[in-house]
Amino acid sequence: MRLLPVLDLVAPHSAAPRSPSAPADQRLGEYVPDAAVLPTFHVWTLGCQMNRSDSEEMAGRLLAAGCAEAASMDSADLVVINTCAIREAAEQKVIGRQGHLKRLKAANPGMRVVLTGCAVREAERAGLRRRFPTVDLFLRPDEEPELVDRLGLASAHGGVGPSSTPSAALTVVGRATVGAADHLPGTRAAAVGAGAIQRDSAISAWLPIVYGCDKTCTYCIVPFSRGPERSRPFDEIVAEARSLAAAGYRDVTLLGQNVNSYGHDLAPDARFADADTERWAGRRLDLHGKPDLAALIRAIDGIRTADGLPAIGRLRFVTSHPWDLSDRLIAAMADCPSICAHLHLPVQSGDDAVLKRMGRQYTIEHYLERLARIREALPDIAISTDVIVGFCGETDEQFRSTLRLLETVRYDQVFAAAYSERPGTPATHIADDVPADVKRARLNELLALQEGIGLGNNESWLGREVEVLVDTLAKPRSHEHEDDDHPAAAGQGAGAPASDARRGSSGSASRVAGRSRQNKLVHLAGGPELVGRVVTARIDHAGPYALRGTVVEA
Ligand code: SAH
Ligand code: SF4
Ligand code: F3S
Repeated sequence: MRLLPVLDLVAPHSAAPRSPSAPADQRLGEYVPDAAVLPTFHVWTLGCQMNRSDSEEMAGRLLAAGCAEAASMDSADLVVINTCAIREAAEQKVIGRQGHLKRLKAANPGMRVVLTGCAVREAERAGLRRRFPTVDLFLRPDEEPELVDRLGLASAHGGVGPSSTPSAALTVVGRATVGAADHLPGTRAAAVGAGAIQRDSAISAWLPIVYGCDKTCTYCIVPFSRGPERSRPFDEIVAEARSLAAAGYRDVTLLGQNVNSYGHDLAPDARFADADTERWAGRRLDLHGKPDLAALIRAIDGIRTADGLPAIGRLRFVTSHPWDLSDRLIAAMADCPSICAHLHLPVQSGDDAVLKRMGRQYTIEHYLERLARIREALPDIAISTDVIVGFCGETDEQFRSTLRLLETVRYDQVFAAAYSERPGTPATHIADDVPADVKRARLNELLALQEGIGLGNNESWLGREVEVLVDTLAKPRSHEHEDDDHPAAAGQGAGAPASDARRGSSGSASRVAGRSRQNKLVHLAGGPELVGRVVTARIDHAGPYALRGTVVEA
């Protein structure tokens, strides 16, 4: 077994020593272990749902080790930063906080900073210290399960499941060395078994099913950060879903960079003899006789309550690469009542030549054919997408093709961003030749077009009744923030859509918000008693990014 270097975490001077709880019977006092001085922690999470899920696991491991969560970053002894690297701006956000962290460390010399997530790439380890000078320990995403061991906290109090399996394994993607992530399915199972997942919500849960990415989109850093695809064993995922159902979760999102290729790296199994998915373009992917996403959603949908209803009423999955969107999956979506009527299907560009340069493996004709099949099978389905504008060599005419695509598809939501060159990706060999101001102008034009399309789609809901899972108590108006209107289950780190918000929202009346099965944000009048409930609401106002309704049945 590989020995892990341990960080010199010194006893925090900011926090008073936390004593283990007092014994019920004073005579047992002598058996109480000595007070342990454990750091309080704060996890700062950037990026996509995968990062949020990973942060829940890290926080769970720290809590299981006996650490307590700090009220804020400023009062924490241990700051864990879970970074995103999808665009340069995402990394800059953390670089920009280095001065603040430096001041915090000066005031609390025992403070330690751990940086993990997609900014920690094996190929660029050498430069990390220069870019993030306040950081004491860097962990690649596949090294996150080692966090507690690396801090020397593993045996402080209680267990976090079998000691995490050291990763060590590295592999090569393109010409870069990356973490192989081989052990992640196993460490996840151990964390779930030990109850070491600190879920953010009691209503909606993330459920990772496949780690890493095997695609080679030329602009994208993810395969270099997260390594190759590793699917979690089928039965372990179903068991985690079962435990989520038992814990009362009503909404579960299956996570992966490409959930549609789930299972191709697993062994064939007689139970999946009917799985016959073939890719319809590009490199072959052998899914014959192996578990796939279609089988997985059928199995999770099959977890039923005594009255025969799906125990998890809402099942979603992100992200779907159009390449592996099979007829089997579409049929399963149509057959399973728990599947939500929303699909996030990133297109990236409306032009075949640009898609080819991006290495996306499909043409617009293929993409539209898949979409037509989905809409035929699930007529009420809402579709969202990701778009990159200003990719290398994108001409104005090619950009116009993307605008035309938006008008053809009439997406419910578009997450758009200007292309940002990422170090080490294949696209660095093509000139990033669209000037920044042109990228910005294209982005604005696209968002303005989409605003009208989104409004039109939302207006079609006026007067209709929808099922809303209420998950938020609205914050007082002065604290409202546009970002709150961004959907939770879409766009993995893609650019934000323009925001609209709670226009017309009435002053001081108590308000809640939730999602329809189409993933539409719906604002409602109502108090905390509605949070966690599924209500029927009539829609009486539509904006480009959100709806407002009245509860007709709670
Ligand atoms: N696995 C998902 C996407 C993950 S990244 C998929 O393939 O659909 C989320 C989004 O970030 C992408 O869909 C893309 O639109 C955007 N993105 C990725 N790399 C980018 C880059 N270098 N510049 C700008 N946007 C990028
Ligand atoms: Fe993988 Fe998605 Fe990135 Fe493509 S865009 S390389 S599919 S994560
Ligand atoms: Fe990583 Fe997600 Fe960002 S996979 S690069 S955190 S969008």
